[in-house]
Amino acid sequence: MTVKELFGAIYKKLVFLFAQDAQIDMDNIPKHIGIIMDGNGRWAKRRGLKRSDGHRAGAKTLEDITDYCGKIGVKYLTVYAFSTENWKRPKEEVDAIMNLILEYLTNMEKFVGGRDCRIRVIGDRTALSQVLQEKILEVEEYTKDRTGPTLNIALNYGGRDEIVRAAKVAAEKLNNGEIKDINEEYFSSLMYTGNDPEVELIIRPSGEKRLSNFLLWQSAYSEFWFSNTCWPDFTEKHMRVAISDYQKRNRRYGGV
Ligand code: FPP
Repeated sequence: MTVKELFGAIYKKLVFLFAQDAQIDMDNIPKHIGIIMDGNGRWAKRRGLKRSDGHRAGAKTLEDITDYCGKIGVKYLTVYAFSTENWKRPKEEVDAIMNLILEYLTNMEKFVGGRDCRIRVIGDRTALSQVLQEKILEVEEYTKDRTGPTLNIALNYGGRDEIVRAAKVAAEKLNNGEIKDINEEYFSSLMYTGNDPEVELIIRPSGEKRLSNFLLWQSAYSEFWFSNTCWPDFTEKHMRVAISDYQKRNRRYGGV
């Protein structure tokens, strides 16, 4: 561990100690949570670090939060790692994020193996490097029969892109007679998240309050929870506060 990492770990421990906490009802844990892992860049800037340091710290947070979700019985966790729009960032930063994800997947035994976690990557992977595409296939294959939580990593993912792709597939199948009709259930099955349960809670740290093209179709009835804390400082306490808040909501799905 470097000195920088040591100070980071101490700081995070202090944040954890002082962060607000809440009780959660273990009988009403959301089955599927989406997280927009935002604020890595600002977190790094405030500390005079490089943006890539912020992403590295964010990757560590992802390990901790995945671990916690496994412990409390969240079945699906979908995290936004790289959007179809993130290619506009400087090449150096894009490369740093891609390398970090490759490193994460390569070491995934160490990171999430203990939780028996199934890993899938959602998004258009054809634009990714060959080595990353191969690693993704390897990790998906290696973890596919695991029975713990599923971690969906959204990579080169865009909600609009996902819907357009699904529409093309549906139109083609309708044209060639493979299907007779397009309904919501069928359309949902064409999303990258396939038959995963509904996304019940979407969390966005760092103070921004928008979806940014994340899970547009899947979020139709999601509850949203926002926090000013940047993702690298996010802890299981924040998750408890988010889940506890979610558990108090009155979900009506358009009814009364
Ligand atoms: C948004 O923060 C974050 C990203 C675009 C990258 C998220 C990537 C990671 C957490 C890296 C690890 C991922 C995996 C799957 C290992 P931002 O850079 O937009 O922050 P800012 O709004 O403060 O600039």
